[in-house]
Amino acid sequence: MRTRLGFLGVGKMGSSILNGIVNSNLYQKEAILLYDANETIREKLKEKGYRVAKDEKEVVCECDYVLLAIKPQMLSEVLTKISECQHQPLYISIAAGISISYLQRICGKVKVVRAMPNTPAFISQAATAITKSKEVDEESFEDVKKIFSSIGIVREIAENFMDEIVPLNGSMPAYLYYFVQAFIEHAVKNNIDYEVSRDLACQAIIGSTNMILTTDKPIDQLINDVCSPKGTTLAGLEVLKKRDFQKIIGEACDACVNRAKELGQLKP
Ligand SMILES: NC(=O)c1ccc[n+]([C@@H]2O[C@H](COP(=O)([O-])OP(=O)(O)OC[C@H]3O[C@@H](n4cnc5c(N)ncnc54)[C@H](OP(=O)(O)O)[C@@H]3O)[C@@H](O)[C@H]2O)c1
Repeated sequence: MRTRLGFLGVGKMGSSILNGIVNSNLYQKEAILLYDANETIREKLKEKGYRVAKDEKEVVCECDYVLLAIKPQMLSEVLTKISECQHQPLYISIAAGISISYLQRICGKVKVVRAMPNTPAFISQAATAITKSKEVDEESFEDVKKIFSSIGIVREIAENFMDEIVPLNGSMPAYLYYFVQAFIEHAVKNNIDYEVSRDLACQAIIGSTNMILTTDKPIDQLINDVCSPKGTTLAGLEVLKKRDFQKIIGEACDACVNRAKELGQLKP
């Protein structure tokens, strides 16, 4: 890539994306300029050989594309500061709930790509939903899609679904870790070794999700294939159904989407 890429915020998500991009060789370290408000993070980045800017404005002035990886609550203050820069790059915002129009209310009609990735970006296995403002030309949009493709899969969606998508990919890792943790804890309580439990549970999830992706079978049929009549799986599944597991998941997703919408209501 010939473009210069900047990061504002190199916390959990920013560092996951950075790690994925550099490992995939899409950008060399020299083509990336970083800034994080946290001094310890800045020092660690320097130790790793990254270029670190003195402030947010330096990143904005020097870069063609700037990834905004800071908390939604802090965005308005940062945007106000960088909106003063004469050169306005293409902004890539990953802030949950923050709309393109929110950014443009502060920075003017800048080019914005809104994306929702997830932390498996760290190992180049992210799932990213992406959309763009009408100011972004196709070539630049392809460049940004390449950035996210270098760290996993990318799916383009309409902006009005960007809040609804959050439980499905942005937040999904946390829900899945919580789910797997419950199974591992049960196994460990039954005196099965932690590492054995972890490896078997994780591979069961990898294998099962790959079955969904690679066979033509509907999910209901895949469930039925595991459940022999009066068998072990069915006994457990009946407990999940009795407790209305799907309704609980639906409520968790609603809460996640509602929180994204609340963040979107923050005053610019
Ligand atoms: N975490 C996820 O799984 C996930 C998934 C999808 C999208 N996102 C989105 O990604 C964004 C970042 O989330 P995160 O979890 O990575 O948060 P985080 O770990 O708190 O990272 C944000 C970093 O930005 C720094 N920062 C604050 N103000 C700054 C400024 N003016 N300039 C440069 N850096 C600044 C923070 O420093 P201080 O700590 O000193 O304030 C912190 O190091 C959020 O908008 C979130 O909605 C996160």
